[in-house]
Amino acid sequence: MSLVSMGPLLRDASKKQYAVGAFNMVNLEFLGAVIAAAENLQTPVIVNIAEVHFSFIDVELCAHAVRFAAARSSVPVALNLDHGLSFETAARALALGFTSIMFDGSGLPLEDNIRISAEIGRMCHASGAALEAELGSVGAEGDGGLESEADPRLFTDPELAEDFVRRTCCDALAVAIGNSHGKYKGEPRLDFDRLATLRKAAGIPLVLHGGSGISADDFRRAIGLGISKINYFTGMSQAALELVHKPADNKIEQYNDYPQLILETGRAVRSVVEQQMRVFLNGVKPL
Ligand code: 13P
Ligand code: ZN
Repeated sequence: MSLVSMGPLLRDASKKQYAVGAFNMVNLEFLGAVIAAAENLQTPVIVNIAEVHFSFIDVELCAHAVRFAAARSSVPVALNLDHGLSFETAARALALGFTSIMFDGSGLPLEDNIRISAEIGRMCHASGAALEAELGSVGAEGDGGLESEADPRLFTDPELAEDFVRRTCCDALAVAIGNSHGKYKGEPRLDFDRLATLRKAAGIPLVLHGGSGISADDFRRAIGLGISKINYFTGMSQAALELVHKPADNKIEQYNDYPQLILETGRAVRSVVEQQMRVFLNGVKPL
């Protein structure tokens, strides 16, 4: 089927109490792994392409590849710009057929975040795409595999949430509740009370970034409290890197040519993605 908008996917997830995984692609192996895992488990899926990766990949080529993979797939697939940083990037992504934009205005003064999110939201809705906006700040964006910890001063303020959602017209809200990007320093401690209050205030599906390193129990609890989309990347990246970094533990000595490594990468990433998807489905059969 052709690419679908993220809005209906998240509304269904919110109603049935599961979460749609949003997994970043950085090459065709990652894309193939994500789609194969979603088909195997029969779950809708969101493919993320992050602006921070634009300098490493050919975004036009990737967008076309995702469109083709979606058309060939038996499950609904949305294509989301992950952590878009400007109106211009959002416009470029929509022109390439992205069906969802995450605008990350978390580094901006609140009023600027609201104004630009609202402008991008109008553009998204005019082309049938969805907008995810961020209030508060999930730390360590762009730091890749570096360790990070959440800063409570940057947690999403529930008192601002209703106004933020109303004024930006966003379809989903990324929240900062103790989650952070990359590897967690110590155990992640999510603020579930804040999440429960945010859900009531926002009234729309909530998004949890920084999925790598969060336990299955915490994911299930977060889903029960309104998380409908979970972003996950570092765990996939680590799985691929391990194949290169720990040759003694795997078959790398046996790789006599690069395509074998491609194959192993796809397998390793798919296994991580499937493991997470099982948790995100929360016992629900959405399709
Ligand atoms: P992790 O890399 O920490 O899993 O976070 C992914 C993410 O939030 C992408 O937007
Ligand atoms: Zn993120």
